[in-house]
Amino acid sequence: MSSTPATAAPAALSVNDAARSGYYNDKVVRQFTIATVIWGIVGMAVGVLIAAQLYWPTLGEGIPWLSYGRLRPLHTNGVIFAFGVSALFATSLYVVQRTCHVRLISDRLASFVFWGWQAILVAAVITLPLGMTQGKEYAELEWPIDWAIAVVWVAYAVLFFGTIAKRRVSHIYVANWFFGAYIITIAILHIVNNIAIPSGFDKSYPVYSGAVDAMVQWWYGHNAVGFLLTTAFLGMMYYFVPKQAGRPVYSYRLSIVHFWALIAVYMWAGPHHLHYTALPDWVQSVGMVFSLILLAPSWGGAINGIMTLSGVWYKLRTDPILKFLIVALSFYMIATFEGPMMSIKTVNSLSHYTDWTVGHVHAGALGWVAMITVGSIYSLMPRVLGLKEMHSVKWIDVHFWLHTIGVVLYIVSMWIAGVMQGLMWRATNADGTLTYSFVEALNVTYPYYLVRLGGGLLILSGMVLMAVNTWKTFQAAKAPAAHPVMPPDPSSARASTQAA
Ligand code: HEM
Ligand code: HEM
Repeated sequence: MSSTPATAAPAALSVNDAARSGYYNDKVVRQFTIATVIWGIVGMAVGVLIAAQLYWPTLGEGIPWLSYGRLRPLHTNGVIFAFGVSALFATSLYVVQRTCHVRLISDRLASFVFWGWQAILVAAVITLPLGMTQGKEYAELEWPIDWAIAVVWVAYAVLFFGTIAKRRVSHIYVANWFFGAYIITIAILHIVNNIAIPSGFDKSYPVYSGAVDAMVQWWYGHNAVGFLLTTAFLGMMYYFVPKQAGRPVYSYRLSIVHFWALIAVYMWAGPHHLHYTALPDWVQSVGMVFSLILLAPSWGGAINGIMTLSGVWYKLRTDPILKFLIVALSFYMIATFEGPMMSIKTVNSLSHYTDWTVGHVHAGALGWVAMITVGSIYSLMPRVLGLKEMHSVKWIDVHFWLHTIGVVLYIVSMWIAGVMQGLMWRATNADGTLTYSFVEALNVTYPYYLVRLGGGLLILSGMVLMAVNTWKTFQAAKAPAAHPVMPPDPSSARASTQAA
């Protein structure tokens, strides 16, 4: 590793670059932070709208771009790729600089990644309601947008790994391992699953067909969950939990075991999405077994995060950001206990097609992903603005309660509705006929859809409060602060989370 002092400029850089290289590039972090909050509101507002449509099915009737089938993928793309990935861009680009003690390798590339990604998101917001879709869940966007995603993603990879290569400490802090694995894996998944033959600018056909298409799609779908919604956000967790707690990670050794175990196991679990289908039975069984094994690294990692608070548990009483982070880990444990159970074939025969799956998804998505994101963004935002804390800590606490109560209402209502649906669908009379018609099962589900809608509204109002807090915090910052690059700490690079 180079031992160039922070302020010394490599000869190839211009005068301005030379001056800047002594400082972190926080501009791109601030941009993605604002994008996270805005897209969070957009994505979740569409979630609330489709939750309302499930309760009032005639809502938006007659307007094609307001139809449920078009808005649902808008919601999933909005929350995963706009809200979630913007947060991952913000945090990964922040963390890689702070833990490698070096500025991002290129400001232009950083800017390209930000504006390129926003352009892709705007294209998604236009094309999905127009009904342009590949029809593959979480990979709906048509081929021109897929190409753009590949290009921006490669630029992001160059930016991230280039910065790691230029680092001024020998150690690569564990959060970067998680971010790195997600960046590489998502590139591979995206490219392989989207290979298609275009038949026009807005239509294409996949090269795979039948069971192979289904297998490739769920290898993609499951690992998008595994590497994007899980591994990447664990990277966030490994930086911001120790940072906010003011303690080193509980066990650094466990974090490495956690990483390799997760990476080794996740890839094989995808077939649990295709139980009782045309997929060979042994493939389904492999998926089930690997899903059960996945419980161990998932809980090991979560416990590592939670135990980081050893000795400072009292901080939970006063720090709402820590509450967000730790409750996120608790929901992660719930989702990763529930997932392996649902992957058992006999359990899946009850849960599949029901709202139990939707409850599981949101225990992970709203409980884990959104809460770790919101906590990390609250922790990061004042730091990149040169402030001590957000405009209102009290509002963060109010947001925490709105979100937590909202998530509990959402997932508990869906669990009850799901198990009830599963039991009613399979109930038979002595003569073999069905005990309940489909409509009867739907009727008893209605009250639970209303509870879910209420939960969604609480969560959305929490996000709006976050936006106001963000606005006020940016106003308080006036001129954004420039943070000098930290000199390398020879005693321990792991101390980066403490020092940076
Ligand atoms: C205010 C918050 C939210 C509300 C009200 C909401 C509501 C909904 C609704 C009504 C559905 C359709 C369920 C169905 O078709 O039966 C859905 C699906 C989905 N949502 Fe959300 N959502 C919210 C937040 C989020 C967040 C933050 C994420 C991810 C980070 C997320 C990820 C998903 C996914 C992946 C699906 C598809 C589930 C599946 O196919 O099984 N949602 N959401
Ligand atoms: C040990 C970890 C996990 C395992 C073994 C697991 C397993 C499962 C299973 C068996 C299903 C139902 C498949 C079906 O019947 O169609 C499912 C669905 C899903 N899970 Fe998990 N899960 C885990 C963790 C998570 C986490 C942390 C998230 C985070 C957000 C998540 C997101 C999802 C999504 C989005 C779906 C719905 C996919 C779809 O049908 O559209 N899972 N999971």
